[in-house]
Amino acid sequence: MIFLGIETSCDETAAAVVLDGCVVLSNVIASQVDLHRQTGGVVPEVAAREHTVKILPVIEKALEDAKVSFEQIDGIAVTVRPGLIASLLTGVNTANTFARLGEKILVPVNHIEGHIYANFLDRNLDEIQFPIVGLTISGGHNELFLMRGHCDIVSLGATRDDAAGEAFDKVARLLGLPYPGGPEISRLAEQGNATRYSLPRALLKNSYDFSFSGLKSAVSRLVQIEGSALNKCDLAASFEEAVCDVLSVKLMGAAQKYGACEVHLAGGVSANLRLRARVHERLMKKLPNVTFRFPSKLIYCTDNAAMIAGAGYFRYQLEPERYGAEHPIVTSTKLDF
Ligand code: KG4
Ligand code: ZN
Repeated sequence: MIFLGIETSCDETAAAVVLDGCVVLSNVIASQVDLHRQTGGVVPEVAAREHTVKILPVIEKALEDAKVSFEQIDGIAVTVRPGLIASLLTGVNTANTFARLGEKILVPVNHIEGHIYANFLDRNLDEIQFPIVGLTISGGHNELFLMRGHCDIVSLGATRDDAAGEAFDKVARLLGLPYPGGPEISRLAEQGNATRYSLPRALLKNSYDFSFSGLKSAVSRLVQIEGSALNKCDLAASFEEAVCDVLSVKLMGAAQKYGACEVHLAGGVSANLRLRARVHERLMKKLPNVTFRFPSKLIYCTDNAAMIAGAGYFRYQLEPERYGAEHPIVTSTKLDF
């Protein structure tokens, strides 16, 4: 089956064509990063307006790149939550209209479930084994999840304040680095000494929840105290190490407890090489037989529509009778799967 995926939950206008949930035929992303760099972060109204301008050309390009006509599309999958409401509406309205006009299957997708399905793209589905324990870590969300089968996903823990990506972005701002902060911090950290500054790790005993606001405040205090003596590379490395420690410790604990066959990283922060290395190290020590996956391409880590098309396909497979074009779908701020 061929699905057209549409993603407009935050600051990327994206459309993709995916075959059978995992073969990516096209993946088009119009990034708004340059626009939001001017304000140091996403301004929701600016993002929403940009989506309305970009959505149709992006969909046209996705069909063109895939060499697929609109008639050949079986279903449309679109992100409905969570995200910026005004941004989501552009994608959802477009999907509703296209589905109604073309009499297509229409599947609403949870953005976080989309990130989880990024790990299935360009992969041989027969090789993926459940249960999977993983992290979806982005600018807007930070979830530790257990996946027992397709679309059978439960959240084990989430952030109580900032998401990991948000912490990267805020710390980057404190250091005078541009948005988005994750890749910038990583770049500085490569040349830094991660043991130079001692930073807190909020491990929140007996819980799989996360908290990064204390770490962010500690960085803010250090920036003030050290002034011009601050070594930005060392601070970036120390901060990155603290985030990676917390994420990898919790992930490993959950993988052990739930007998995971696979451990996955997904979302923008899964692009972080230090995090991948830390998880790999810990797995080798404690759970050497567990398969470790992160998205097969960097472009599948951050927001994209291929992951949405993939998630939509698997949702449809579970309950095909549920997704007719005649029932328009709506956005929601709810986070459940
Ligand atoms: O998944 P995503 O594109 O958007 C959301 O759904 O939020 O994730 C974007 C986030 C940003 O906060 C960005 O700073 C972070 O992912 N990010 C990284 C890296 N690349 C992107 N964080 C740490 N290291 C990276 N290499
Ligand atoms: Zn995302």
